[in-house]
Amino acid sequence: MEDIFRAIEEIAIKIDNAIKTADLGYNDSENSSGESQLKLDVQSDIIIQEALSKISSVKSIVSEEKEDILTLNDGGEYIVCYDPLDGSSLVDVNLSVGSIFGIYKDTLDGNGLVASSYVVYGPRIELVVCKKGEKPLLYRYKANRFEKIGEITLKNRGKLNAPGGTQQNWSPIHKGFIDTLFQEGYRLRYSGGMVPDLHQILLKGGGLFSYPATSDKPNGKLRQLFEVLPFSLIYEMANGAAINDKGMRLLELSPTFIHDTSPCFFGSNDEIKSLKKAYGAR
Ligand code: AHG
Repeated sequence: MEDIFRAIEEIAIKIDNAIKTADLGYNDSENSSGESQLKLDVQSDIIIQEALSKISSVKSIVSEEKEDILTLNDGGEYIVCYDPLDGSSLVDVNLSVGSIFGIYKDTLDGNGLVASSYVVYGPRIELVVCKKGEKPLLYRYKANRFEKIGEITLKNRGKLNAPGGTQQNWSPIHKGFIDTLFQEGYRLRYSGGMVPDLHQILLKGGGLFSYPATSDKPNGKLRQLFEVLPFSLIYEMANGAAINDKGMRLLELSPTFIHDTSPCFFGSNDEIKSLKKAYGAR
């Protein structure tokens, strides 16, 4: 798997360069979730496909920007699912964005997820790598290499609250819970990019990120294979938790379709316990 992590480092540098130099216009196409594709989304997808094609252990890839699974090497053992440029609609206002990778073996579900990684393109490039059973590791790009900064561990309770989705479409239970967090002194931190928003909670010690079921999106917005499962592994390995609105660990999810979404909540343990209580989940 180390060759995949090295490829992600190369990909990060190339996508960062594309973000800084490429045309910010839209393509004529839409992705499989019916969203308009920025030229940058498509370019980032090509950069990743080209890099992973050279790695013999990668059997196939699944991209948020592609309709179907693409086989690269019949003899490979890993399936890499990725969101090439998450939050790409924030590039034109110069906010941080990211790439997310889930590395699966045998099955495309939480059980088959063996490692995750994400890159944050912000004032600096940061990379997080997490193997199942091990603490997530943070790297920062400096002097032409990714320097290891250290392990990421969440405290049991944090101070940040990142509530996603349109408030008008939240359920009364969700609205009540989010209001309670603010009454308890939590501070709003939400950019609209899940990578920087979840990264901030991880590095500042804790809090809650939520993207609930809403009246317009009853299954949530965020995709299981590219977004929800990779971050669930990272949050659990960092001593936090990741659940859906029934109180189920997100890592127990088995998508029926590669672009399936799920309501999702990521946070430190105390916030997730309070959330379960508010939602009446076990
Ligand atoms: P996109 O890649 O289309 O910009 O979507 C970003 C995703 C995710 O990164 C973020 O957490 C979420 O959508 C934000 O959605 P809301 O604006 O509905 O909160």
